[in-house]
Amino acid sequence: MKNKILVIGSGAREQAIIRAFDRSPKEKEIYCLASNMNPGIAELCDEILIGNFNEPDFVVNYAKEIGANLAIIGPENPLANGVADALLDVGIKVVGPKKDLAQLETSKAFTRNLLKEYEIPGGPIYKIFNSMNGVADFLNELGENYVVKYDGLAGGKGVKVSGDHLHSHEKALAYCTELVNNDGEFVIEEKFIGEEFSLMSFCDGETLKHMPAVQDHKRAYEGDTGPNTGGMGTYSDANHSLPFLTKDDIAEAHEINIKTAKAVKDKFGEGYKGILYGGFMATASGVKLIEYNARFGDPEAMNVLSLLESDFIELCHGIADGTLKNMNVSFENKATVCKYAVPEGYPDNPVKGEPIDVSGVSNTDGLFYASVDIQNGKLVEAGSRTVAVVGVADTISKAESIAEKEVSSVSGPLFHRTDIGTDEVIQKRINHMKLIQ
Ligand code: AMP
Ligand code: GLY
Repeated sequence: MKNKILVIGSGAREQAIIRAFDRSPKEKEIYCLASNMNPGIAELCDEILIGNFNEPDFVVNYAKEIGANLAIIGPENPLANGVADALLDVGIKVVGPKKDLAQLETSKAFTRNLLKEYEIPGGPIYKIFNSMNGVADFLNELGENYVVKYDGLAGGKGVKVSGDHLHSHEKALAYCTELVNNDGEFVIEEKFIGEEFSLMSFCDGETLKHMPAVQDHKRAYEGDTGPNTGGMGTYSDANHSLPFLTKDDIAEAHEINIKTAKAVKDKFGEGYKGILYGGFMATASGVKLIEYNARFGDPEAMNVLSLLESDFIELCHGIADGTLKNMNVSFENKATVCKYAVPEGYPDNPVKGEPIDVSGVSNTDGLFYASVDIQNGKLVEAGSRTVAVVGVADTISKAESIAEKEVSSVSGPLFHRTDIGTDEVIQKRINHMKLIQ
């Protein structure tokens, strides 16, 4: 049967997904439900249609119209709205968990409780609140190191960390009061100290196949300063670990993903089929779980999918059919560095509608479009992370040089982080881990 694949989402992550499909020698048609006109996706797809892909009925109708037999869901919002459930109901295979299982991402309280109930290592001391009862006492118990998390999808804006966003218990109490006044549930937990990394696994409900570890950079400006963003850039190493991690750290992260997949299967009586993305922190007392996402990371997808050697169409069928166990999933032993060019003023006051020029990029296979649009035939910035470039080489240092040169060649009112993946920043991460041991 010819593969008729529906990709939901139209950012750089989804372009990386589509590129990986495109590399498969299998006979295929690729369709994309998009939120914006991504020219990189348009070029590779049979059709790109702009529409509300968060709406399950709309997605199902389109999937039926094109005769899709496989779908992959890029962003979290359609997962939270039950788009996977709706597609499965009409017999379409899906890479992406059902709504209940996507709670791993959509509810911080769900995930914390799951780890506790199934005695999965890596969880913090935490408590869940929906009123101010006991909040001050629990903050006192945690002292200086606490994190307040709104319990729901907030685009990364619902989390406030002591020392970073909250500089006193008074400020923390004020934020909690704000959440209570908005009828919000929230989690207060212990703050971990260490280095963050992303470890994503393909999961077919039973078996997990792990991807190379990646480190993202959430802060907007050089030296990890400025407001939080969706991620300004990422790197991965040729050995699929990271320079500041030990073999045990990687093994612990694998173990936490495996145990979590088993726990959700036990809880819901059916397995998690999709990408299980653990956001971890390596600390002095082992690997801790910061959060789960129920999808590929963005930019992490550009790092790992640029290295994927296995046939991605076959892999996605393996996830949906529960046959990953017999599959060999392999990644090239190369390092990658991904850098995003973002609009001036991003993330708080981004310029919009300004033309950009990517014609200076020499390797277009490493160029990924994100928040862009076409206006009067011109490529313009649409207000969020604009274009990403990926450098692939034998070392992080060489991959960084490539990515830096490429991202610098994109012209327009944009900026990027020059420090991501540099020897200096990598050394800083290694030193930080040594310091806290
Ligand atoms: P989340 O939305 O849960 O990923 O949180 C956003 C960011 O807040 C993470 O990337 C971390 O940098 C930080 N964070 C969240 N939870 C913790 C924690 N328990 N300890 C330290 N930092 C945290
Ligand atoms: N890179 C962070 C995320 O995808 O959530």
